[in-house]
Formats: sequence, structure tokens, C-alpha cells
Amino acid sequence: MRKPIIAANWKMFKTRDEALFFILKVSEEMPDNNLIDTVIFPQSPMLRCLITRQGEELKIGAQNIYYEDEGAFTGEISGPLLKSYNVEYVLIGHSERRQHFHETDEDVNKKIKAAIRNDLLPIVCVGEKLADRENNNTNKILKKQVKKAFKDISAIELKSIVIAYEPIWAIGTGKTATAKQADEACGYIRSVIKELHGEVVADDLRIQYGGSVKPENIDELISQENIDGALIGGASLDPDKFIAMANAPLKILK
Ligand code: PGA
Repeated sequence: MRKPIIAANWKMFKTRDEALFFILKVSEEMPDNNLIDTVIFPQSPMLRCLITRQGEELKIGAQNIYYEDEGAFTGEISGPLLKSYNVEYVLIGHSERRQHFHETDEDVNKKIKAAIRNDLLPIVCVGEKLADRENNNTNKILKKQVKKAFKDISAIELKSIVIAYEPIWAIGTGKTATAKQADEACGYIRSVIKELHGEVVADDLRIQYGGSVKPENIDELISQENIDGALIGGASLDPDKFIAMANAPLKILK
């Protein structure tokens, strides 16, 4: 049984006060982290003030990491710094970073290695564009992204990694992939990992779905065989909605 993981990607939203208000409101309402992992990804300057206030159950993650550990890289964020603040997770390869900041699959691979080297848990995003889906290229794109992202990453290292399947056409658009489309894509990603590392590793790998997830559709999405949680943008900014979504997997745990 894979442990569900529900994550909030706040992107470039919320001030310090708004973030603190949110944390105060949700921290007591988070599910037991022995059953469900819950993670918030705020903007980096907020990490420090959230990390001591998030309560017992909630984890905090960074939205980005640079692939070198230190050096003359103005504006970037290093793994050792994140670790020194007790950050636990790091988001890698989000489509907005690929699109606006030109991150390549090779960058994603180097960032995963930097996260592992610094004992941070990566959530690695992959997903196709609308044109890819319309041209029946979804699997081809996913395979390429997964193979390149996880080049030279061992089976043991993969155990600490979560993949987020986020079709780009569903992010922030209100268009959710159907549960069937999302499950098929997550199943396909699992089959690529199986090809690379065998059945046991593939069966253990947690794969989230992301793209217009909200309280109204999360139950159906996370009850699919290959979907182990959600990476949520817009709807995660509202504390009440986040509480509902963080607790949603309780309904499917036996
Ligand atoms: P959305 O964003 O939930 O607003 O579609 C998801 C994401 O970008 O991770």
C-alpha cells in the first residue's frame, strides 16, 4: 500500500502574514502523517518562518533548488541552505519552470541529484502539452521526460522520490484530466519505471496527479489505482479547501 501524499504548490502567491494565517488555521486539521503525507510549497523567503510553526503533521518544501551546492549563481537556492532550515521536500521540473525559466530535462536530472545529495525529498513533475495529447504523443513525451529525469538515479534513490503527473493543459485552466486519463498516464509512468528498475520499485513509487484539483474532484482522482495523491495549485491557497483535500485520502484508506 502506497502512502498518499497531498501537496500544496503556492507558486508566487501569499505574503508572510497570509502564509502564517493559513498555517495557523490548517496545522491542527492535518491528518496523521503516519497515514498521509501533507506538504506545503511556499515561496522560498517564507520557508524559515513556516518551518517552526507548521505543527506536527505538515511538512514544508521548497519550490526550487539549484543543481550546484554553492557558487556564484546569483538568485539561486542551494540544497545545503534548504537542508539547514530543515526543509524536507523540493519541487523539481514544474512545467512553469520549464516554460518560463527554460529548465530542460537535463537540468531536472541535475536538480534531482542535488536534492538527493542534500537529503531532500524530490517531487518531480512531468506532463504533456495539449498538442502532444491531441497528436497522441502523451506517452512518448512522458517516457522521454521520465528517462531523462531519472538518468543515473538508482533504484534505492528512487524510493525517496515522488513523481507528479501534471498535464500542462490542465494546470490553472480549470480543465481537469478525467480520472481515467490521469490514471492511464500515471500507470504509463509506472510502466516506464518498471522497464528501468523492475516491478518492485515501480509498485512502490508514489505518483501524484496535478492540474485543477479541487475538493469536488479529488476523491475520484485519488481513488484511481495508479494515483497516490495530488499536487494542488490554485485550490490549495484556501485553507478550508486545503484541509478538505488533505484529509480526502482518509476516505479511501482501509
Ligand atoms: P492548479 O496547479 O491546481 O492550479 O492547476 C497545479 C500545479 O501547478 O501544480
